[in-house]
Amino acid sequence: MASPFSQVGVLADYAAWKRARLERNGNPLFAHREKLWETIVPTLARKDSLVVMEFGVAWGYATKWWLSRLSDPRLEWHGFDTFTGLPTTWDRAGLTIYDAGSFSAGGNTPPIQDPRVQWHVGDVGATVGEVDWDQAGKRPLFLFLDFDLYEPTRIALEAAVPHLKPGDVMYFDEAFDAWNERRAIDEILVPRFTLRCHGSTATALALEITGPRAG
Ligand SMILES: C[S@@+](CC[C@H](N)C(=O)[O-])C[C@H]1O[C@@H](n2cnc3c(N)ncnc32)[C@H](O)[C@@H]1O
Repeated sequence: MASPFSQVGVLADYAAWKRARLERNGNPLFAHREKLWETIVPTLARKDSLVVMEFGVAWGYATKWWLSRLSDPRLEWHGFDTFTGLPTTWDRAGLTIYDAGSFSAGGNTPPIQDPRVQWHVGDVGATVGEVDWDQAGKRPLFLFLDFDLYEPTRIALEAAVPHLKPGDVMYFDEAFDAWNERRAIDEILVPRFTLRCHGSTATALALEITGPRAG
């Protein structure tokens, strides 16, 4: 892990970024990601035939959490992962935070028996096209992004961008990381869309698309 000193710096920078980029300064602020998730559940549960794209599944903790709270039988859940862990090191400011292979589920998809779930196994660069994005984009979308790394997050967002519309919701587990997930938010989402904050934690962020960004 990076030193406690550099971690404090990164988190302070995330708070400043939220104030600069987001309505309501990134508020409300929650202590844990599950508290943030709980506040989004009613918004998503109201949507008809939601399609969820989960980018970064690992052992399926988040998948199980959400599926148990979203009961719509027409919901479609797509889980993307190598299931063998991070394909590269996870670096921040030149420091390696996690080694390649971290978060490996041993090549196994989670033991979740839910007919609404489809797994897309392999590098997202190869699997993101397995989904019929034109069909998915006609339905409300929830993107759950937890790849940790810049490159796969960029690939996921670029596949989704042509299909995103007002009301679609996105969750980033590591939005605080200016070298990875936050870099992808800044490069791909911020120039194209106006974004309403549903809330954040010290590291995560939930956003809703409110419209195209003018000019
Ligand atoms: C932090 S874990 C996900 C944890 C999970 N969302 C949870 O909350 O329990 C990050 C995951 O991203 C996956 N991942 C990272 N880069 C990837 C890529 N290029 N293609 C597919 N999966 C990738 C890793 O295999 C790893 O399982």
